[in-house]
Amino acid sequence: NTENIAQVRKWVQAAQRVVVLSGAGVSAESGVPTFRDTHTGYWAQFDPQEMASDRGFRMHPERVWQWYSYRRDLLAKVQPNAAHRALADFAQAHPGKLHLITQNVDGLHQRAGSHDVICLHGDVMRNQWLDTCCPLCDMAHAVAQGGSPPRCSACGNMLRPGVVWFGEHLPAHALAQAEQAVNACDVMLVVGTSGVVYPAAGLVFQAHQRGAKVVIVNPQATELDMLADAIVHQNAGQALPVLLQ
Ligand code: APR
Repeated sequence: NTENIAQVRKWVQAAQRVVVLSGAGVSAESGVPTFRDTHTGYWAQFDPQEMASDRGFRMHPERVWQWYSYRRDLLAKVQPNAAHRALADFAQAHPGKLHLITQNVDGLHQRAGSHDVICLHGDVMRNQWLDTCCPLCDMAHAVAQGGSPPRCSACGNMLRPGVVWFGEHLPAHALAQAEQAVNACDVMLVVGTSGVVYPAAGLVFQAHQRGAKVVIVNPQATELDMLADAIVHQNAGQALPVLLQ
């Protein structure tokens, strides 16, 4: 790791543009469970297709809504960690040099002070209408019934979390911004992601094909390791403050 770290620090310092793709692992040290880590991962206890899909929500709106309420409550209690802060501090110290793309919906990068975060999978604190709105649909007056999702009192339309669910398209603008950032980068740090979900993981192939230096920061092996020019097998909270110093 040490020689890797010294090499990566050189690449970061020499780079004009650095892109970061972050995943759930960057929030792990804040106490937010990741999705696929064995035992602690959310998906170990919930079926992702059921809890984070349009079909699952329509079949069990209360169960899915309560799961997101549980996650929102948890997020209200946690703090950004050293990894989030290192990214925010670096961006502040080097204006225009770092572009942060995240798969996370927890808002911790933003709370650490990162600006213009490219959020590929939405924001778990936001809601949106499940179906196309009627002219009377007004989120401010959506009525929540106990553990059920709030509904438009005029047409019954339900609110759902403003996140990208399995099988759904990513926000086109965010994906275009991400691809643009990757096209212009010299170094891409891939931090805390298992690299199994597309199109996010595809951005790493794009960086590799362009000849950018790809650096993976993850205590475990990932599906993207074969694309890496350097791998730092450390926790993000430990590695990023050093790599971005
Ligand atoms: N520092 C860095 N990486 C870590 C840490 C840590 N402290 N702890 C765990 N990891 C790594 C794990 O080794 C794993 O590779 O973080 C990764 C988390 O992977 P996932 O749980 O699959 O999360 P992610 O890759 O972000 O999932 C992508 O899948 O469920 C969907 O939309 C959801 O955005 C999510 C997407």
